[in-house]
Order: sequence, then structure tokens, then C-alpha cells
Amino acid sequence: MRSLLPVTDQTPAERTGPPTGARTPADPGARTAGTRASGTGRAWSLDELADAYAYPALPADGAWLRANMVSSLDGAAQHEGRSQPLSSDADMRIFGTLRALADAVVVGAETVRREGYRPARAREAFAARRRAAGQGPAPAIAVVSASLALDFSLPLFTEPLVPTLVLTGAAAPPERLREAERAGVRVLIAGEGRGVEPATAVRVLAEQGLRRLLTEGGPRLLGHFMAAGVLDELCLTLSPTVTAGDSQRIAHGPAMAVPARFTLAGVLEEDGFLFTRYQRV
Ligand SMILES: NC(=O)c1ccc[n+]([C@@H]2O[C@H](COP(=O)([O-])OP(=O)(O)OC[C@H]3O[C@@H](n4cnc5c(N)ncnc54)[C@H](OP(=O)(O)O)[C@@H]3O)[C@@H](O)[C@H]2O)c1
Repeated sequence: MRSLLPVTDQTPAERTGPPTGARTPADPGARTAGTRASGTGRAWSLDELADAYAYPALPADGAWLRANMVSSLDGAAQHEGRSQPLSSDADMRIFGTLRALADAVVVGAETVRREGYRPARAREAFAARRRAAGQGPAPAIAVVSASLALDFSLPLFTEPLVPTLVLTGAAAPPERLREAERAGVRVLIAGEGRGVEPATAVRVLAEQGLRRLLTEGGPRLLGHFMAAGVLDELCLTLSPTVTAGDSQRIAHGPAMAVPARFTLAGVLEEDGFLFTRYQRV
């Protein structure tokens, strides 16, 4: 993997050693992240990836909402209903690193239903970093749903290391609320109607001490967050694939009146995949 931005002495592919500005793992045996692809530089350790994607320092009452999405070259956010065909080993390492840095992973109910979401696991490679940041062993998953049409008997709800949360509106179906309660699932109300209001969702999670937020979509949830102007950062993987067809883009829903401007904060590359990081201006 190499950093194209910021430009470092790792930008030319063939050099060795840690990228300038990135922390050298204190442990010489620290694990490296995956395989080295020819022409794409050496593998980065998980520590180096975690440094590159560190959340900014936040004020006491602040929160930071980052999204991590993958898109094909022609803009598809999924192929045959899943994002995995667009992904790569390096993409999954970054996906895992972003999870490991987060207090909570916010995800739309349809992604949970379609992708068979499981609870986040504790990873030894990030344990010390999480402890030092005052975080539990793994991020909480926070599922956003208006209908609460979720299978509460799934491991996501029955076996998490950190209890899975459900965010919904005050007008959520009462029988489904009772079902969630019977299953011992914690439901947080983050909207006055049926739906969740994005700014309220961020505030409600922050009140739970969950301030380093990561959303993994899907497109309809991300569309809501974008349109409400609460997205601080987009970690977008550009996958060197084309799919044609009529797949959704990474954000879907009513258009914003004026395009919101983001600024490029970083670009990593491996195997032709670009791992971009954009932040709200
Ligand atoms: N390319 C990527 O990086 C990526 C990432 C994630 C997912 N995906 C793909 O995206 C597809 C699923 O995405 P999607 O856009 O159809 O669905 P989604 O955004 O994952 O979920 C939509 C559902 O989330 C709930 N929801 C969203 N916004 C809400 C709000 N403001 N208030 C209350 N509930 C809200 C609703 O759940 P209820 O219906 O329960 O009310 C809604 O039906 C899958 O094929 C998945 O593979 C791709």
C-alpha cells in the first residue's frame, strides 16, 4: 500500500520502511496488514492504518460522523445486493481498522437484513489502542430502523460483546417495540415521527458516550445523513471495477438543494483500489 496523499517518501512504490509521519510500531513483531502486492509498496501494519485514520480530537460534547463506503468506477454501491464483490483484502483491512477506531457503527436496517450483519468482534491488534482511548473492546452496532422489522433472534442481537442498539422514531410500531424489549434489545428514540432524524441520532449516541461514529451505510441511510448535513467525513473506496446495471449509488434519496463541498484529506492505493478520505469543508 502506498500513500498518494499526503505525498510521502512512500509515494513511489518501491521504497521500504514506514511512511513519513506515520508511527513506527513499537513492537518489532507487530503484525503487518495483509499481503504486499507487487508495484504497490510494502504492506502497512494495522497500527499504521489506525494512525492514518485516527479520529480528530473532539471537544467534550462533540461527535464525529464518518462514513465508509465502496463504489465501483461506474458508481455502483453493490453488485447483486452485496458490496463484497466490489471489495478487496486491503479494503477489508481498512474496513476493519475503521471499525476498530469507532465507538459505534451506525447501519441501516436493510444492510443488516441483506448482508447478514454480525456483532463487531474484539481484535487483539487494536485492544491496547482502544483501552488507551477509553473505549470498550469493540464498537457497538447501532441499527437504524423505522419499521423495527428486524429479527431480534439473530446473533447481532443475542451474542454481541457490546449490546447492539436500535435507533428509531417515537412513532415506531408499538408491537415491534415490545418485541425488541422482550428480546432485551435497547431501543433509543431519535426522532419525533416514525423515522430517525440524523442530527438527533448523532446527539442521542453522543449522550451515550458514543462520539466517534462510523456509518457503513447503506445508501438510503447515508443519503439521509448527507442531506441533513451531519456527515463529517467520507472514507470512499474507489474499486477498479465496472458493473453497469442499475445498482444504487453510495447515497440515495432526495437530492440536496446545493451540492455540499468536501475536501480531500488522504488517498491510499493498493492493487488499483483508491482509499480516499474526504472531510466536510
Ligand atoms: N457500497 C457500500 O459500501 C455499501 C455499504 C452498505 C450497504 N451496501 C448495500 O446497500 C444495500 C442496502 O442499502 P439500502 O440503501 O437499500 O438500505 P439501508 O440504508 O441499509 O437501510 C435502509 C433502511 O434503514 C432504515 N432507515 C434508513 N434511514 C432511516 C431513517 N432516517 N429513519 C428510520 N429508519 C431509517 C429503514 O429501515 P426499516 O425498513 O426497517 O424501517 C430503511 O428501510 C445492500 O445491497 C448493501 O449490500 C453497500
